[in-house]
Amino acid sequence: MKNTLALTLAAVLALGVSFTTTTSAQDAGKVDFEKQILPILKESCFKCHEKEHEDNGKIKKPKGGLRLDGAAVIMKGGKEYPEENVVAGKPDASWLVKTMALPDTDDLAMPPEGKGDRITPANIDLIKKWITEGASFGAWKGVE
Ligand code: HEC
Repeated sequence: MKNTLALTLAAVLALGVSFTTTTSAQDAGKVDFEKQILPILKESCFKCHEKEHEDNGKIKKPKGGLRLDGAAVIMKGGKEYPEENVVAGKPDASWLVKTMALPDTDDLAMPPEGKGDRITPANIDLIKKWITEGASFGAWKGVE
């Protein structure tokens, strides 16, 4: 009886170990939001999509009601597409990346025409991959 218990325990432990190694191996290949995606948003989107703040005596509100400076507000979305800024698992339903891929002349192309460089196709693919993988922010919370 004791032996069976020990064996079962050993089996459970072995299972646990192999499980953790596979998941961490998968994590290693996953897109890291804070390292890989956040810098793109900071560079191209933050100036219009940050929490309301004062700049040179002027109140700056997030455009379209959309903030991209925190995990919760990214998921919350903006005025036109609430809950559809990032739809985990569905890049084609996620306006965050759809707007980036629109032609420059489209009203909803982001950043808007003349307000910054288009996001490169490689970076658009990276963001799509992050969304497909479940749009995890890891430990990053950003501005609440
Ligand atoms: C120069 C300012 C500016 C920059 C930079 C900018 N945006 Fe916008 N964004 C706007 C404005 C203005 C609107 C509202 C557009 C409208 O209602 O027609 C908007 C709206 C949006 C919306 C729709 C929100 C909703 O639900 O109504 C998304 C998504 C968006 N932007 C994403 C981005 C992303 C992603 C970036 C960076 C690649 C970005 N924007 C950069 C000005 C900007």
